[in-house]
Amino acid sequence: RRSKMVKICCVGAGYVGGPTMAVIALKCPAVEVVVVDISVARITAWNSEQLPIYEPGLDGVVKHCRGRNLFSSTDIEKHIARADIIFVSVNTPTKTRGLGAGKAADLTYWENAARMIADVAKADKIVVEKSTVPVKTAEAIEKILIHNSRGVNFQILSNPEFLAEGTAIKDLFNPDRVLIGGRETPEGKKAVQALKQVYANWVPEDRIITTNLWSAELSKLAANAFLAQRISSVNAISALCEATGADVAEVAYAIGKDTRIGPRFLSASVGFGGSCFQKDILNLVYICECHGLPEVANYWKDVIKINDYQKSRFVNRVVSSMFNTVSEKKIAVLGFAFKKDTGDTRETPAIDVCKGLLGDKAKVCIYDPQVTEEQIQRDLALNKFDWDHPVHLQPMSATEVKPVAVTRDAYEATKGRTASASSPSGTSSRSWTTSGSTRACRSRRSCSTAATWWIRRR
Ligand code: UDX
Ligand code: ADP
Repeated sequence: RRSKMVKICCVGAGYVGGPTMAVIALKCPAVEVVVVDISVARITAWNSEQLPIYEPGLDGVVKHCRGRNLFSSTDIEKHIARADIIFVSVNTPTKTRGLGAGKAADLTYWENAARMIADVAKADKIVVEKSTVPVKTAEAIEKILIHNSRGVNFQILSNPEFLAEGTAIKDLFNPDRVLIGGRETPEGKKAVQALKQVYANWVPEDRIITTNLWSAELSKLAANAFLAQRISSVNAISALCEATGADVAEVAYAIGKDTRIGPRFLSASVGFGGSCFQKDILNLVYICECHGLPEVANYWKDVIKINDYQKSRFVNRVVSSMFNTVSEKKIAVLGFAFKKDTGDTRETPAIDVCKGLLGDKAKVCIYDPQVTEEQIQRDLALNKFDWDHPVHLQPMSATEVKPVAVTRDAYEATKGRTASASSPSGTSSRSWTTSGSTRACRSRRSCSTAATWWIRRR
């Protein structure tokens, strides 16, 4: 079945909105897709040769559809007014102040988008939650829309995105599932079907799951919490491996062979990063606390505690194996993004590792071909949770002290002061990985560019 001629507008042209809309445009030539954003720089980049995000395969998809049925614009009001289906994919950072600071999601951007939709809508609209939000956000959004609607009918759907960065296009082409939650009223069911028809252009119907709104919202938080929990589990085991002489790669391989456990997401690492895992778990923790479920909240909190422990354990290991000090020692960091095949540095463990090493006065030199120097310097200057609050993101002034050196060449980053000053093993450089074994180093490298950290002794 083909979709009817619909107009889609997506509010928020970021890591989720941009690739998702590009793929919808590619797979549904009869649908007009417009992505809008308040950031002029982002929209300009989406319309240029240099897209604002690096994602394998994205360039080709965008170039194929741009100007045909895919458009990017800052004229938010005009395109919201014209659309039948509005996806909202704005940022939902962790609150940095006020009630729930450090845990709850900051819904300011969502609320602004909802008020704007209510203001400009003159005909009925389906509003789709795309960015991850706390459970029951749809209810709050519905209230805003209905109270300001002047007779227009809004249907709210939750359609969380499960794509992972670095494989976004592949994931969008061939999703494990598409999840659509809606109200269980006749109008709600109709809206769910309308969105289902869009995805049915390329996703087999048995992979499109429909649920109620709250199940869809919670499934997204739960899926990310489960994935992060697996990584914290294997990272916890990696600490025990190092203490006992077991090899975490061998252990992970052995337990992954159990079909009930499965082999994926069992690579020990410096800790998980990215914009979702920590934020979504903190969100889950906050919701549990609000519902009087402290035991459940504490259970999930420990997933983050182990992640923080893994990052600091790594720094401590580097420092202790350099005679307990890295002061004035040149340390090269190869890869700064939170995983391979992306330039995204949000919550990258590299930030905590570099800050830890800088705290011991190391001279850190960073190489990452996908990340600009400004981004790296800014990330290292920001406070916890400030990264997704554009209000805190002032460009660095020329006179500001830069915490690290950044090079555009990997060899340059690893160049030491005196190559002849040798370590006890007779080599002038050392590499650390999370488990410390060469074997883990190799397998880890295929998992993330942010995982190989070279240290050159003075
Ligand atoms: C994640 C979810 O996978 C995706 O479904 C959701 O929509 C968004 O959050 P993403 O953060 O883009 O996607 O990347 P992912 O591949 O999940 O990796 C997250 C972090 O976990 C990275 O830092 C990665 O290096 C780390 N990781 C992953 C491990 O440390 N070990 C593993 O075995 C897998
Ligand atoms: P994600 O990884 O969830 O896609 P991003 O931060 O990459 O998050 O993208 C969110 C985008 O939403 C940003 O480009 C931001 O400028 C945009 N945005 C935030 N609020 C609004 C709004 N009210 N209207 C339009 N765009 C918005």
